[in-house]
Amino acid sequence: MALTPLQESARRRTFAIISHPDAGKTTLTENLLLTGGAIRLAGQVAARGERRRTTSDWMKIEQDRGISVASSVMTFEYENLVFNLLDTPGHEDFSEDTYRTLTAADAAVMVLDAAKGIEPQTLKLFEVCRLRDIPIVTFINKMDREAVDPFELLDEIQDKLALDCAPLYWPQGSGERFRGMADLMTGEFLKFKKRTANEAQEIGGAERTAMDEDAVSAFMDSDEFAEISENAELAKEMCVPFDHQSFLEGHLTPVVFGTALRHFGVRELLDTLTAYAPPPRAQKARVKGNEAVIDIENKEVSGFIFKVQANMDPNHRDRIAFLKMVSGQFKRGMKLKTTTGKQLNVSSPVMFMAQDREIADDAFAGDVIGVPNHGALRVGDSMSESGNIMFGGIPNFAPEILRRARCLDPMKSKHLRKALEGLAEEGVTQLFTPAIGADMIVGAVGALQIDVMAERVSAENKLEVVFEQALYNVARWITAEDPAVLDAFLEKNRMNVGTDIDGAPVFLGKNSWDVSYVADKNPDIKFSATKERL
Ligand code: G4P
Repeated sequence: MALTPLQESARRRTFAIISHPDAGKTTLTENLLLTGGAIRLAGQVAARGERRRTTSDWMKIEQDRGISVASSVMTFEYENLVFNLLDTPGHEDFSEDTYRTLTAADAAVMVLDAAKGIEPQTLKLFEVCRLRDIPIVTFINKMDREAVDPFELLDEIQDKLALDCAPLYWPQGSGERFRGMADLMTGEFLKFKKRTANEAQEIGGAERTAMDEDAVSAFMDSDEFAEISENAELAKEMCVPFDHQSFLEGHLTPVVFGTALRHFGVRELLDTLTAYAPPPRAQKARVKGNEAVIDIENKEVSGFIFKVQANMDPNHRDRIAFLKMVSGQFKRGMKLKTTTGKQLNVSSPVMFMAQDREIADDAFAGDVIGVPNHGALRVGDSMSESGNIMFGGIPNFAPEILRRARCLDPMKSKHLRKALEGLAEEGVTQLFTPAIGADMIVGAVGALQIDVMAERVSAENKLEVVFEQALYNVARWITAEDPAVLDAFLEKNRMNVGTDIDGAPVFLGKNSWDVSYVADKNPDIKFSATKERL
């Protein structure tokens, strides 16, 4: 029997993986898709990547630097749930993109390298999750290599992230002496055995045995058995027990150990998500100016755009806006409106399945659909049937690098502005226009974003452009309760103000000292390093 739209929405689980580069996110992604049956063999994610790279010029940077620039969404069904895995770029320069992707996630998997624990990028991304109270499942990866003592690892999570750890499993040994892990809930032992991807897919989860000396003697000596028995007891005594509510509120993380590369612990991670990850979250909004909360019970189709991407298919110059659905049942051909009154007939939305893009006929709250458009849609836009629902919480981050863009051929300046506006609409870089003069000031959170922009402007627009040191190095969005106060400030500081791509006023300072000085002198003006639409 067909499920109702509410039942369909309720079985969506949308999550992202956060990690420091090299912790194993790509390997884990691949193995999750493999375990979920979305791909037949490990290796396909990378193969797709290769194909993409060879067909798209600007992705040359990806290739040169060996990093993944673009996030994508992959969908698979497992145990009657529909999982949407939002892939986030791992490179730190792309943090802005990653942050935005996290706004669409209802849960996150935090991957740690068992030898390294919490690394800087993990911490940053974790903070974004914490801001939104996103529940986090921790996967301690690379147990097949020498690891830090698990008690120390959990202490570190607790100390650095102020997050309670509830281990669901406890590992025995690491590296060459990694034997597997005890299931602290059932009291069984999961035996570690090197397996191929094929075996992992066919056989499923790890082989389980009873936790008694006879049963484990085939692969563990009596000292090891004594150690795991003691540690499993100690872990139960010392760590807080798993509490679902506390997990959902973002205060506690269940911990699973494993090795993505050796296909061990991945099914257990997926089973943990299956058991505990939440359905699509309710989202704060404004409806006709009034505060509201929209959740999966709402019948109207609504959602917000967390990412815009161009050139997915180099033969089409369209952009794809990624819409995270918050409520309703979307049907192909539906008309959706933005709060600014733009109406789009969404006749050929795309869903991003692991295998390939597929045309979506129906989508439900929690799903992500790609809406093709020619630049009408921006990151942070909300769409709904009525056009009255405006979601908040998708920030723009103040750039840490500002550059003045100049065309070598001054006759082409207009073209350059158009190209830069396009990239700003996509969210690749930001574009500021000073109040005086005709300069184009581009801003980025990381240096790599500037490289991507330069590459794309040259490849797609055939423009010769230099990005030179600007007069300004810091941009802050400025607002004031009283519009007259803001106007007076803008008038008085014409040399140091401008607007962003949406026309919002910004203060452009030489350095952060400059900004603090002006902010101190103007207490009625709010200087802000992030911009949200609500
Ligand atoms: P990332 O996306 O987080 O950056 O990490 P990625 O999956 O690319 O993994 C980084 C490196 O760590 C890769 O090795 C990968 O094979 C390895 N790795 C991932 N999971 C495990 C694991 O469970 N155990 C061990 N021993 N290694 C793991 P590489 O040499 O950089 O790349 P490759 O040549 O293997 O592709």
